[in-house]
Amino acid sequence: MGFWFPVEEVDEGTARLLVPTIDRGKGEPLDHARSRAAVFYNPLMRLNRDTAVLAVSLRGDHLGRTVEACEPMCGCGVRGIRLALEAGAVRVLMGDLNPSGVQISEENVRRNGVSDRVRVRFMDANLMLNLHSSPRNRLDYVDIDPFGSPSELLDSALRATRDGGLIALTATDMAPLCGVSPSACLRKYGGKPLRTAYTHEVALRLVIGAAVRAAAVHETGIKPLFGYYADHYVRVYLSLRHSAKPADAALAEMGYIVHCQRCLYREAVKGAYLKASRTCPVCSSQLTVGGPMWLGDFADNSFAGGMLEKAVKIRGWEPRLTHLIETICGEIGFPPTYYHLDEFSSRAGISSLNMDEIMAKLTAAGFRSTRTHFDPRGVRTTASATDLANFIKG
Ligand SMILES: C[S@@+](CC[C@H](N)C(=O)[O-])C[C@H]1O[C@@H](n2cnc3c(N)ncnc32)[C@H](O)[C@@H]1O
Ligand SMILES: [Zn+2]
Repeated sequence: MGFWFPVEEVDEGTARLLVPTIDRGKGEPLDHARSRAAVFYNPLMRLNRDTAVLAVSLRGDHLGRTVEACEPMCGCGVRGIRLALEAGAVRVLMGDLNPSGVQISEENVRRNGVSDRVRVRFMDANLMLNLHSSPRNRLDYVDIDPFGSPSELLDSALRATRDGGLIALTATDMAPLCGVSPSACLRKYGGKPLRTAYTHEVALRLVIGAAVRAAAVHETGIKPLFGYYADHYVRVYLSLRHSAKPADAALAEMGYIVHCQRCLYREAVKGAYLKASRTCPVCSSQLTVGGPMWLGDFADNSFAGGMLEKAVKIRGWEPRLTHLIETICGEIGFPPTYYHLDEFSSRAGISSLNMDEIMAKLTAAGFRSTRTHFDPRGVRTTASATDLANFIKG
C-alpha cells in the first residue's frame, strides 16, 4: 500500500507497525516533530499502552467473555491492535478524523492479522461514541487518548460505556492542570489547580474529579482502578456503576486541598463546599485552595494487584511498568499529597536527605510512609509537615 508520506516499521509489544518516519536530523525537538507528522505515533507512550493491555486483559478475565472496546482517537492504530493481540478476547472499534491515520491503521490491522476483530472508521470521536450511547449498544471499554484534554469527550465516553464498564482517560494538558493556566483548568476540569511540589498528584485528582461530576449527571458512580502520572501526562482507568448510590458515594470523595506555602501544612477537606478555615493552623499564613477534586484513592488494591500479577508473568513491557505498578500499590490507603524531601532539606539548610533514613525514622516514630510514583524524591506519610520538618532538624 502506498502512502504520501515516508513510513518505517517499528515493533511495539507483539505488534509490528508502519508509522511515519520522523526526520531526527531536522532542527525541531523530537516531540514537536512527532505531533506534526502525517500520523501520530509516540514511542514514549508505550508505557500508557502497556497499562491499557493489562487493564483490558483483567477486565476480560472478570467478564469471562469477549471485551467490546473502542478507541475513537487511534492515530496509527497501535493501541487497538495491541489490545487485539495481547489482551485476550477483545473486539476493537477504532476511529480517527485524520484520513492518513485511518489509512495507515487499516494497513496495520491487515499486517497484524487482526482484521476479524478490529475495525477502523474515518469518524469524529464524539460521533463514534454517540453511536454507542443507547443501552444495547454500549461498550465494555472506552479509551480516550487525545492531544491535550479528554474533557470534550468525557460525556460521550460515559454514555457509551456499559454498567460495570471501564473508561480510560489520558490528559497531556499539564500546563492547565498544574496551575500554569488556572483559568483553562477551570474551563476543562471545573477545579482550581495547586502550584505545589505535589502538583502532578493534584492534576490526576482534578481529572478524576471532572469524571466523577460528569458521571453523577447520569446517575453513574465511578471508581478509579488505576491512575498515574508519567512523562508529562496523567492517565486513569475508571470503572462505572449505573446507579444513584455509587454516584453519591463518588461525590462524597470530592473536596479541596488547602496548602500553606510558608510552612507546607496541607489538609484534604471533603465536601461540596469548602468549610475549612483559610488560615494556616500552624503559622497563621493565608492558605492556598485547590479543587474541587477527587480525594479518595487513585488506585484499587485488587485491580492494581491484578495488573502487577499479570505484568510480572510476561516479558517485554516498557522497563518502568512493573516498578510503577508496585509503587502505586504501596500508595493505596495513604492520605492525599506527599512531601518533597528537597523542599524540606533546602528549608532546613541541609544539602541532601536520604529517603530510606527518613522513612526509617518515620516508621520508628509510629508513622506509616511509602515512596510515591509521582516523584522519586517524594515521601507519602501519615506524619504532618511539622513532624517531618522536626525529624529532619533532629
Ligand atoms: C494522541 S493521538 C492518539 C494516539 C493513539 N491513541 C496512540 O495510542 O498512539 C490523538 C489522535 O486524535 C485524532 N483526533 C483529533 N481530533 C479528533 C476527533 N474529533 N475525532 C477523532 N479523532 C480525532 C488525531 O488525528 C490523533 O490521531
Ligand atoms: Zn503555615
